[in-house]
Parts: sequence; structure tokens; C-alpha cells
Amino acid sequence: MAMGLSTAKPYRRRLFLLLLRCTRTAEPSPKCSHHHPLSCSSPAAAAEPTHLRCIFRPGDPNRFVPGIPDAFWGVRQFSTSVDPISSGDKNLERIFIQNMPVKPIVVDGVDAVPIEDERKEEVDTVVANAEEGKDELCGGKVGDLYKLEGDLEVRQEKEQSEVEKEAWRLLDRAVVSYCERPIGTVAANDVTAANQALNYDQVFIRDFVPSALAFLLKGESEIVRNFLLHTLQLQSWEKTVDCYSPGQGLMPASFKVRTVPLDGSNEAFEEVLDPDFGESAIGRVAPVDSGLWWIILLRAYGKITGDYALQERVDVQTGIRLILNLCLSDGFDMFPSLLVTDGSCMIDRRMGIHGHPLEIQALFYSALRCSREMITFNDGSKNLVRAINNRLSALSFHIREYYWVDMKKINEIYRYKTEEYSHDAINKFNIYPEQIPSWLVEWMPDKGGYFIGNLQPAHMDFRFFSLGNFWAIVSSLATPRQAEGILNLIEDKWDDIVGRMPLKICYPSLEYEEWRIITGSDPKNTPWSYHNGGSWPTLLWQFTLACIKMGRPELAQRAVAVAEKRLPNDKWPEYYDTRSGRFIGKQSRLYQTWTIAGFLTAKMLLENPAAAAVLTCDEDLELLQGCACSLSKNTRIKCSRLAAKSQVVV
Ligand code: GLC
Repeated sequence: MAMGLSTAKPYRRRLFLLLLRCTRTAEPSPKCSHHHPLSCSSPAAAAEPTHLRCIFRPGDPNRFVPGIPDAFWGVRQFSTSVDPISSGDKNLERIFIQNMPVKPIVVDGVDAVPIEDERKEEVDTVVANAEEGKDELCGGKVGDLYKLEGDLEVRQEKEQSEVEKEAWRLLDRAVVSYCERPIGTVAANDVTAANQALNYDQVFIRDFVPSALAFLLKGESEIVRNFLLHTLQLQSWEKTVDCYSPGQGLMPASFKVRTVPLDGSNEAFEEVLDPDFGESAIGRVAPVDSGLWWIILLRAYGKITGDYALQERVDVQTGIRLILNLCLSDGFDMFPSLLVTDGSCMIDRRMGIHGHPLEIQALFYSALRCSREMITFNDGSKNLVRAINNRLSALSFHIREYYWVDMKKINEIYRYKTEEYSHDAINKFNIYPEQIPSWLVEWMPDKGGYFIGNLQPAHMDFRFFSLGNFWAIVSSLATPRQAEGILNLIEDKWDDIVGRMPLKICYPSLEYEEWRIITGSDPKNTPWSYHNGGSWPTLLWQFTLACIKMGRPELAQRAVAVAEKRLPNDKWPEYYDTRSGRFIGKQSRLYQTWTIAGFLTAKMLLENPAAAAVLTCDEDLELLQGCACSLSKNTRIKCSRLAAKSQVVV
């Protein structure tokens, strides 16, 4: 049952404040012509509490509550209590806390006051921020933040090709506004599929990332800032699937700006943000990746604009913590990898990627690395920082050691003994060698390797998934040797992974019985289509980032050139079908925004490789040291960076 405000828990109230609307009076059209505007940038609105009344999603009467001045109160009241983290291994603790770079504390004195005062202080600060944020979001100080740092140079005025010009026109056309301010980009602008919009008319968190980077690299930061702050507010939304509410830190998969009549009037309208946390999504999948992408984008925004004040805001810090809280809370897991249901990421339908899929692990690792840089270090956050470091360390060991396959490893698996009951089993996950698929025996090149798609007890999913492998490189989850190996494999298997359109979402496709059993006979995911071995041009920017990081931009250039020849003629499709990516996808949307933005971002990164450097993470030997120390019995000898380097697969 959905909960009305009067019965809502205190934390739920906070969202009611949150400016998720822009009030306007219209004549006669509901959309843009208004008289007597009461937008949230209006000083009158700011001064008058009733203008901050909560607006709920249409169609849910329980969510409508008339004027609530006390809603001023409700912003992230208990955010500093987000501290579920057990301190973990003492060895790691010693290393990580000692080596933690201490960032300036945003709210003076926060670390010195007792917890209750701390909370109150935070509430005050956040209320102030929210009021300030309202101005910023709806008309204030955004736009002049663009500041370049270090050797990052952004070329504003280079000669653009006709294809790039068209892509920019289309990307600009995809921009969605809220309170007359840009807030995101719509997933697709396909007029030919207007009557089957499904949710392609929404702003998806993951889809917006390449748009955001394109805008940032072009020097336009306002849309990204607005997006980050508004989605942060959506994070707190009350959400239920039937009678159950998922975790508080969940970020929506997507949101839509709706124009609704104000107070039942036919003349006045307002805009509201309507998020989808998976409760309307096909299959009701929780978008685990959304929060991870949000953190990754937040760091990118700071790095590119130099506006670090945004990430230091208390509400933003709380947002990061809430996401991490969901990811780091204790469960039944035996592994440091994140346990999720099928379809919890870019592949948002059943594809046999439940359990510990690589894509989620790589984004999780990236988000932890990014958070570690952004979290304000103080007494209140030190447990969290410790937990992040412990997890990073364990996760990198786990993925490097158990997900990696190359010729040598496949040969080891081929000769595995099974049913080993002991602490020092070689075949820890009890993998039966018969699992090695016949395609892999021939496919695995002599040089190179990759991270497998998933690992569970007695199960290795040997499919190659592009996004997870790219992000393993970008975030340094992969060792330098492994990163090099992944690119070698892609080069060697160019026809399979790039073919006539970069890049295969996964290789190979599931066919016959496997398709029937694993996808549930999904007609959209037939072999070599959509998520089942389809080719997704949006993956270009992530491939480009990985190639630049590894000093091999020519590989990305080649892939971009393949895409550039076809994308404009084909009207920028969402995905391509067939083994080599020859056909436009069966149900592919045209003018898919992240195809357009992915292409532009790839182009811009190639023109300006220094920009790529701020979006990646370098190998952190302290993390390796942490894992080496905790694995080792004899810390005196082995607990050093050098030992770590030699111990933890590099
Ligand atoms: C499809 C994709 C998903 C994407 C969405 C919007 O559902 O699988 O990754 O976010 O479309 O483009």
C-alpha cells in the first residue's frame, strides 16, 4: 500500500520539499505559454512556503498532500546515520586509514560534534543548500562554472565534420527541460516509433552519461549539474513494488518530466518529475547500475569543470553514502562482488546475467574508486572509507584472479580436479571442465584474454561482455597486463566484436535451447539481436576511453571510422543485428540519443586524449598491498608494495 504523507516515516517527508516541480499558470496551452509564472526561480515562490508544496506523481492520489510548510524540514534528516559498515580486516584498516588523503571538511566542525548535533547541523545545512539549490537549479548560478584544470584542454572551436554537426544538432534536440532549464536528454527521438514510445521518451540515467560527457567536453556544464542535483532528489522518492519498498539509496532507471494541471485547474499547470525505479519497468528490474553511473558522472563533472563544491555539498555527500550503503551492506555473500538479479544494468532484460555479472562489478569498482576520491574525510565518514578500501582491495583480487581467462587459464580449467573439499582447493568454485564451451576452444587467441561474464558456484559464464571489460580497463580493475590482453583480444577478434558496426554487447549469442532456457524465449533477444549479441554503437565512447588509457587510440579510431560511415545514413540506430552487425536492429529505435552522444564523445576524446585521462583511474598499489597483506600470514615480509605487485596478479 502506498503511504500518504501523514503516515510517512520522517525521512519520506524530505522528498516533498524537493522542488521537483515548476509551477506555472498557462493560457491557454498547457505547455509553454504562461501568464503569471510561478516558476521555482521566482523570488515569490522562494519566500512563500506553500509554493514548495509537494507535488506527486499523477495517478497516485495517496501521494498528493496539500501545502506542507513543514516540509522544509525534511531534507535527508538522517543522512549521517548511514553507516552500516563493519570495519573489516585490521591489516587493511591500518594501511588505508594511514594513507587516506584527508580532504577539507565541508561543514565546519561536523567531525567534532556529537551525533545528534551533527545530524541537526547537517539538516540545517542541507535545508540551506536545498533552498540555494532551488535557485541554482531553476535559474541561478549555473553556467559559468566551466573551468579547466591542469593539462586538460577542451577544444571548443575545431572544424567539425558534417556528421559531427548533424550529431550535435540531434543531441541538442534531445535535450529535456524542466523549469525551463536543461535537465537531461531523452533516450530516443524516433518519430517513426512515436506510437511505441514505451519509455524511450524518458531520461535514462545510464543513457545520459555519454550526453553529459559530450556537453562537458564542449564546455556546457549546466545540464549536467542540473541532472546530478535533480536525480539526487529523486533518490529519496518513496517507491514500492506492490507492498515492498526497495532500498533508500536506489537511483531511478529513468525519469520523465510531466506537465500536470495545478490543483485541478484547467488553466494552471506545473511540471513534475516522475521517476521509474523499476516499478514500471518491463520485468520490474532494479537499475543497480544507475547509482554507480551517477557517482561516476559526479566525479567526471568535478574533474572536467573544476566545480568540486558540488560534490562537497552535504546533500551530495549523503547521496553518495546512500548509494554505497546499499552496495556495501552485509548480506549472505561469500564473495566481494555485488550480488544482483538478472537485467540490473544496460542489459535490462533476462539474459542469464543474474548473480555476479562483470558489468556490475566493473561499474561497482569504478564507483568505489570515484567515491573514495570524493567523500569528505572526517570522523563520520572514516568507517565508510575503510569499508570502501577493504572492498576495493578484495574485489580487485577476486576479479583479477577468478574472472580472468586466457589460453593458460583455460588449459588449467580443462585439467581441473573437481569436488575438492578443503581450504586450499585449486578449483575453488567447483567448475566442471565440461563447461568450457566448444566455441571458446577455437576462439581464444594465443595472445590476450578477457574477463568472463559471470562467476558463481559451479558456473562460469564464458561469454565476452564488452562494457564490463572496457570498464575494467578504465577503472584499473584489470591489471595493466590484463588490460593490454583485452585490447589484444579485441584486435585479434575484430570481425566478431567490431565487424560492420562497433561494438558487440556480448559474444557469442545464445542459441537454440540455451536461448529458450536462459532468455525465457525472449523474441527481442533472438540470436545476434539486441542484448543477445547485437551491436551497440553507444559502446564506442567506452571503448575509446579504454584504448586511450592503454595508449592505443588507433584501435578506437578504426572503430569510430566504421561507425561514422553508417550511423548518419542509418539514422543513428540504437543497435544492429546479425553476427557482423550488418542490419539495423529489428526493433531498434532510430535517433537513439546515446548512439549520437557516444559517437560525439568518442570523437572528442580522440581529439583530446588529455580529457580521457581525467575520466579513468590509475592502478593503486596500496589497494594491492592491502589484499596481499590480508592474504599473507607473514606480513613483515610480504606486506609491501613490491610484494603486492608480485603477488596480486599483475
Ligand atoms: C533499453 C536498453 C537500456 C537503455 C534503454 C533506453 O532498455 O536495454 O540499456 O537504457 O533501452 O535507451
